[in-house]
Amino acid sequence: MALLSILCYPDPKLHTVAKPVAAVDARIQQLVVDMLETMYDAKGIGLAATQIDVHERLIVIDVSEERNQPLVLINPELVWSSPTTHLNEEGCLSVPGIYDGVTRFDAVHVNALDENGNNRVIEADGLLAVCVQHEMDHLLGKVFVEYLSPLKRNRIKTKMIKAQREESR
Ligand code: NI
Repeated sequence: MALLSILCYPDPKLHTVAKPVAAVDARIQQLVVDMLETMYDAKGIGLAATQIDVHERLIVIDVSEERNQPLVLINPELVWSSPTTHLNEEGCLSVPGIYDGVTRFDAVHVNALDENGNNRVIEADGLLAVCVQHEMDHLLGKVFVEYLSPLKRNRIKTKMIKAQREESR
């Protein structure tokens, strides 16, 4: 097991478009274990491989209170979205300390492989639906702050760069 380092916005690597996972093999299964450990350690509810600089379509999620219901989505594809949307406050492990509103579908159905390579459809609503959409955006190279106004986004960018500079001192 290993903790992985998480890329921080505005790292340009966060805008890489991920490729499909070719095979759910031992390497991918180890990556799943390490990503779950990293997500729990960082107290996040979701982590996309993009955020740890691996550009393959792989997501781990746990929205349970008890932090004991890990969900692994490999090669996720959106197969249905609800006609209704809502504005929800989001944060991201790659943009620490920043929370802002993003409009998402109320519910989505996603087709994906699990950590054993089995295909299934996840029917998500509530927080899980928000999290799935947020993480799938990461795989397309999209960070949630890109939904905000250019003014807000630039403020966040400046703040992040300053925080990273102070941290590296
Ligand atoms: Ni995120």
